[in-house]
Amino acid sequence: MRLLYCGDVVGRAGRQAVLDHIPALRAAWALDFVVVNGENAAGGFGITGGICREFFAAGVDVIVTGNHVWDQKDTAAYIADEPRLLRPMNYPAGAPGRGHGLFPAAGGRGQVAVIQVMGRVFMDALDDPFAAVAEALDHHRLKQGGVDAIILDIHGEATSEKMAMGHFTDGRVSLVCGTHSHVPTADAQILPGGSAYQTDLGMTGDYDSVIGFVKEEPVRRFVTKRPGRRFEPAGGEATLCGVYVETDDATGLATRVVAVRLGGRLAPSGPAPLPPASSSGLVGGEMAEAVAGLHQGKGPDTDG
Ligand SMILES: [Fe+2]
Ligand SMILES: [Fe+2]
Repeated sequence: MRLLYCGDVVGRAGRQAVLDHIPALRAAWALDFVVVNGENAAGGFGITGGICREFFAAGVDVIVTGNHVWDQKDTAAYIADEPRLLRPMNYPAGAPGRGHGLFPAAGGRGQVAVIQVMGRVFMDALDDPFAAVAEALDHHRLKQGGVDAIILDIHGEATSEKMAMGHFTDGRVSLVCGTHSHVPTADAQILPGGSAYQTDLGMTGDYDSVIGFVKEEPVRRFVTKRPGRRFEPAGGEATLCGVYVETDDATGLATRVVAVRLGGRLAPSGPAPLPPASSSGLVGGEMAEAVAGLHQGKGPDTDG
């Protein structure tokens, strides 16, 4: 199967990148399944039912969230009736919604389990994410019970906790990756047991910002240590950030992983063919081709 998972969508600029890129990428890369993290999609804080419906219509199969899941007041009601919107499964018992599920892929190409947990280092103290994942992986086993691929997201701040989750689940999932930091890490790889891994996918947002927000107010707060105006999402062209994974139909494990960065300010990366580089990006079309060329050799691909 061919999977794409995009990191935290921030504000209108991030939403526009999803709507602009996902329909074309589904065709260009023959994607079977697309996941996005939508926890910052609504003005930087949370997500609404209307935004979810727009993403589903654009070709997104499942939306995951994180610590911002409850920031919009209608989410608790919406998530109860929409199994394609997930929240971390280690919230206290009784939280609305679900933290994992099994979903059909496009064109009858099998089923994909998606699981989300939240880390506890420098985050709210939720239940143990490792115990939660162990429970979910008892339920979803690769190539058993119609599970053709498993995507696991650990939404967390600390790279160590996310890397530990990678090794904890290596060989039992198709992809284990992190979200929440809003900055992509350059460590896309296939772990020794066969799971694709990237510590953080980065945000789908405007990178001329402080983690997706208009930079002046966060900088002022760091400098003065005094509260001030509210944070607003930055409005420049977003970079769609995520990871592309191909899996072995026999095992469900990864055979290829490529970091994805399209549009906006970051150097482009992704499996060929890459769309033309943005006119507002810092890197021209030749670089896009060179990066794409790196991924055409045999064997696992890594970040460009
Ligand atoms: Fe986020
Ligand atoms: Fe977050």
